[in-house]
Amino acid sequence: MSFAENTMAGKTALVTGGATGIGAAIVRLLGKLGARVAITSRKEENLKAAVQEFAEKDGIDVIYRVGDVRDADGIKAVIADIATELGGLDILVCNAAGNFICPTEELSSNGWRTVIDIDLNGTFNCCQAALPFLKKATRGGRIVAISTTHADSGWPTAAHAGAAKAGIQNLMKSLSAEWGKYGVRANWVSPGPIEGTEGVDRLIIAQGKAAEVLKRIPLGTFGQGEDIANAVVFLSSDMGAYVSGTELVVDGAARWGT
Ligand code: COA
Repeated sequence: MSFAENTMAGKTALVTGGATGIGAAIVRLLGKLGARVAITSRKEENLKAAVQEFAEKDGIDVIYRVGDVRDADGIKAVIADIATELGGLDILVCNAAGNFICPTEELSSNGWRTVIDIDLNGTFNCCQAALPFLKKATRGGRIVAISTTHADSGWPTAAHAGAAKAGIQNLMKSLSAEWGKYGVRANWVSPGPIEGTEGVDRLIIAQGKAAEVLKRIPLGTFGQGEDIANAVVFLSSDMGAYVSGTELVVDGAARWGT
């Protein structure tokens, strides 16, 4: 079951952090549905391997540029270069993120700053750099940020990432208000635990918490990358045209409280 195969035909998209995990699933679906897609991240070896896999396994041509979302000037040049090569930029998916488990009382100020810088400042840098191109999108530019349900609940032992994601959500609301006049929609998707991602492998499975976490998910399974990709496609397609400044939660009704 999927969207019609030409759902994203004629659209151009950049997925930051698109070489791996949820980002790669988003790239795959956008590409299969007809979008021309670019990815960026810090590690060229990951980008190269991903582009090769997208071509061989999925039959889609994806372009890449090395870039660090923390470097405002650098990422601005990367996004301009990508938009030139793709012939415009209709969709920006702010997916690049960094995270690690650390009790907050032990977290160094540099550790805090690093995650805020990648997740929150990096999202701001990309949105601002993409705006001139998104403004020109013929059917309205789209920004979709990948957040987390922990942005609302708090994220014990990942307070840096929880705070950054809460900031991203607020940023999307501000952008939806300020940039609606340019036809730009800004939304965010909040995934629960998604199987096969570094987040679940490292933060849940490696900590021996899989059974405990699954008990808190009424639908009884971890999500799949495609579940998040489907949400991103809806928000960035013409079908999501009147949706802006809001959240789409994709978490199997997970409950982290009682
Ligand atoms: N526990 C505590 N502090 C940590 C840490 C951990 N597991 N990992 C990094 N830090 C701290 C570092 O000690 C450093 O602070 P310090 O200078 O006070 O010692 C600070 O964070 C920056 O770390 P550094 O590794 O120099 O930064 P980086 O820019 O190279 O990488 C990350 C930052 C977040 C990308 C890195 O931690 C990482 O590779 N994480 C795993 C990959 C990832 O995040 N994937 C996304 C999954 S959702």
